[in-house]
Amino acid sequence: MIFYFTGTGNSLYAAQRIREVTGDHAISMAKCLLEDDLDYKMNSNERIGFVFPTHCWGTPWLVDQFLDRLTIKPSDGYGDDEERLDAIFVYAVITCGSSIGNADKMLAKKLAKKGIKLNAIYSLKMVDNYVTGFDIVSEEKQAKIMQKCDAELRRICADLLNRRDHQHADKSAMGIALSKLNRLYKSKGRGTKDFYADDSCVGCGLCESICPIGCIKLGEDRRPKWTLESCAFCLGCINRCPHHAIQFGKKTQKRGRFVNPIFTDIKE
Ligand SMILES: Cc1cc2nc3c(=O)[nH]c(=O)nc-3n(C[C@H](O)[C@H](O)[C@H](O)COP(=O)(O)O)c2cc1C
Ligand code: SF4
Ligand code: SF4
Repeated sequence: MIFYFTGTGNSLYAAQRIREVTGDHAISMAKCLLEDDLDYKMNSNERIGFVFPTHCWGTPWLVDQFLDRLTIKPSDGYGDDEERLDAIFVYAVITCGSSIGNADKMLAKKLAKKGIKLNAIYSLKMVDNYVTGFDIVSEEKQAKIMQKCDAELRRICADLLNRRDHQHADKSAMGIALSKLNRLYKSKGRGTKDFYADDSCVGCGLCESICPIGCIKLGEDRRPKWTLESCAFCLGCINRCPHHAIQFGKKTQKRGRFVNPIFTDIKE
């Protein structure tokens, strides 16, 4: 089982590659939350993967919501639940633009509360989608990043097939120091008041259909409205609008946008 969360497709891309190699089923954490589908039974020979982006040098808000409500119980064998849970191979692939900060530790802490230990943790550098903070890198740089990422994904998949333990080795002191801001980001940094659609909006409704928490609704004028004060801040809407019509304050007008090519194959 692969639980994934994605805004612009990077983590979905990683989850899909892992799915292709392992044959494991991939499920969206956002969908699980919306459908209240959070109780799972697993055999000890199965793998559980968590694949998601770094948000502010830590776990995304939505991933925390999912982990807080997730239950996993062993479904086979005899003996106590703790030992049987331990036999399940649990891993995480955390995508990022430069550093995952303490996202691995935050995830491990949440899982430990459920009696689940992480066997393997990987950080995976992909294209940074944080367009509300800074511009997207050039297409040339994106291609180079994706090439390295594909090579790394091949190594990760080989490890996962062999159920190999792995500790992630991102020792970016800066990322770890900045992870202190993650708590503030979750409580105050996910506000939607600066989102709006400009005149290039054609009312196609894509932003409404892809928002993982159902925050966006098209009004009678067929322009999107952000109906919640704060959101998952995945930046899917602003990056994926085909007309670059979504802005956040004044700084995003001149910036590029990023969408992982996986979204040209799959419509979520
Ligand atoms: C709100 C937000 C915060 C982010 N913070 C970080 C960060 O702290 N470190 C980092 O390397 N990348 C950061 N990123 C970039 C994403 O982690 C990266 O682009 C990721 O691969 C996006 O995955 P997705 O396409 O599955 O959403 C951030 C992105 C967003 C939207
Ligand atoms: S995706 Fe873009 S063009 Fe389509 S409704 Fe949303 S803002 Fe308008
Ligand atoms: S409103 Fe936009 S940024 Fe916020 S959760 Fe929905 S798609 Fe993501």
